[in-house]
Amino acid sequence: MKQYLIAPSILAADFTRLGEHVRQAEEAGADWIHIDVMDGHFVPNLSMGPMIVRACKEVTRVPLDVHLMVREPEKMLASFAEAGADRLTVHIETCPHIHRTLQSIKELDASPGITLNPGTPVESIREVISLAETILVMSVNPGFGGQTFLESSLNRIQTLDQWRNEGLSKALIQVDGGVNATTIKQIALAGADVFVAGSAIFKHASGVKAGIEELRQELPTIEVQ
Ligand code: DX5
Ligand code: ZN
Repeated sequence: MKQYLIAPSILAADFTRLGEHVRQAEEAGADWIHIDVMDGHFVPNLSMGPMIVRACKEVTRVPLDVHLMVREPEKMLASFAEAGADRLTVHIETCPHIHRTLQSIKELDASPGITLNPGTPVESIREVISLAETILVMSVNPGFGGQTFLESSLNRIQTLDQWRNEGLSKALIQVDGGVNATTIKQIALAGADVFVAGSAIFKHASGVKAGIEELRQELPTIEVQ
């Protein structure tokens, strides 16, 4: 059976009780905790830094998946790794020397990920996908939670899945933005493995556990040949 991973995005959590929300996500079976770092330059919003990563590390054993929506991410990799980031994902739009940046993440003992905005051609990462362990498809323009899933992302996921089938990469395909109980199935069928969800989990009317369970229920059951 194909294994799908759920990565709750704490951008939608209640920051007045972040520890509690992270623990609830862990108890409900979250596979990774997704942490959105925004710098107010690359994206029009400011969010969290290494201190929040460190705080999460203190309350959970779930791998911390840090999404760097920042200019010049290479300058911050070490401080996020020291704070406890297990996975570090950078945007191709911010990395003129992407080989070196992905290599630096590896050298810090974190898992390297690469991501791209909805307006960036998937071909722009083709040369380097073998160096990434995660390929994150942004299915909204980054900067804010609670946006609508862009349908055009489905073709992009399919292309990446096809490249993977052709042997170009072994990376997990992750999707971020507008993932909810209505959209998750088609995203999975397009070839995604890891689902980032903020609003659908932390703003679920019946709580974090119900939010995660609802997403899992909608996932297809696929036999792996
Ligand atoms: C957008 C962030 C997302 C966001 C997802 O810039 O990268 O991780 O938190 O939020 P939802 O699930 O609410 O679309
Ligand atoms: Zn994200």
